[in-house]
Amino acid sequence: MTSSQRASRIEIRRRSREGGPFARLAEDVRRGLTKTRKELPPKYFYDARGAELFEQISELPEYYLTRTEHALLAQIADPVVASFRPTTLVEFGSGSSRKTRILLDAIARAGLLDLYVPIDVSEEMLRQTAHALGENYPGLRIHGVIGDFEEHVEALPEGGPRLIIFLGSTIGNLTPDEATGFLRNVARVLAPQDRFLLGTDLVKEVDVLERAYNDTAGVTATFNRNILSVINQRLNAHFDLDRFDHSAFYNREESRIEMHLVARESHRVAIGAIDLTVDFSKGESIRTEISCKYTQAMVEAMLEKAGLRMTRWDTDTNHFFALSLSAALH
Ligand SMILES: C[S@@+](CC[C@H](N)C(=O)[O-])C[C@H]1O[C@@H](n2cnc3c(N)ncnc32)[C@H](O)[C@@H]1O
Repeated sequence: MTSSQRASRIEIRRRSREGGPFARLAEDVRRGLTKTRKELPPKYFYDARGAELFEQISELPEYYLTRTEHALLAQIADPVVASFRPTTLVEFGSGSSRKTRILLDAIARAGLLDLYVPIDVSEEMLRQTAHALGENYPGLRIHGVIGDFEEHVEALPEGGPRLIIFLGSTIGNLTPDEATGFLRNVARVLAPQDRFLLGTDLVKEVDVLERAYNDTAGVTATFNRNILSVINQRLNAHFDLDRFDHSAFYNREESRIEMHLVARESHRVAIGAIDLTVDFSKGESIRTEISCKYTQAMVEAMLEKAGLRMTRWDTDTNHFFALSLSAALH
């Protein structure tokens, strides 16, 4: 076979409303920062720098999530692939697709690998990843989609069987209602021969949870403040990052980690592009991320409510993280 016959075919499309995945930034910032309890959607962390910072977080000693999920994937990849023989892998919030390689390898070992569809808001990371995978998986077709998975679940390729994956406990960044909405969309597009693999972080000792979001190297704090840089750059805002402290704590009632930026002193910030000034009092915070923690029963109930039936549940010996496989109920 010549190298041109073996080369991967990479195609990247924008699937968000006009202006790309950051098109709603202005609207979301206005809505979030004029609320009594200020908040911002976590998808806006992920410009090129935010995506790179997340990669650094995933390697921190305190951040058990990535390495635990990685080990679980390595354990279950072959049996999961053997159970329904997928040819297409679709991934929401794919990031660097580092762990995805475990599944791509397993599908390739079974002689089935045809198409990979990574979907992410982070354009630079998606392009970089697609090209690296193209080099490493000759013959693989890659259809990258730059878009918001809360808007574009319907944009899935035909054919299959398809393995649809949502890793990294990114589902935990959605409120229960948002998660149900997203999973209902997944259930709607899941054909009987397809399967959905979901990574969820589990309820555990508060200390372990809080350490994961308060690393001693301060990378998570830098990642947290990056959302203000994104707003500064894209909306001509004047946030001074040094005037905000990183705070992350477990909210037991809501079963979630909350990440906030807390104003060190009272001050006012102008956001030029939307003609808005925002007042902060000392100690007032912006909630920038939630990360929900689940039990097996909670995951099962969440899937069932959305029209999905869990067919497999795998967790590590510490019960820190879980992977669940499900099929459509219909
Ligand atoms: C927590 S990271 C997980 C990355 C990777 N899946 C992993 O497990 O290491 C979340 C990823 O989802 C992407 N993301 C967040 N919100 C998104 C949205 N609404 N639509 C598409 N991608 C999103 C981010 O750009 C980032 O790559």
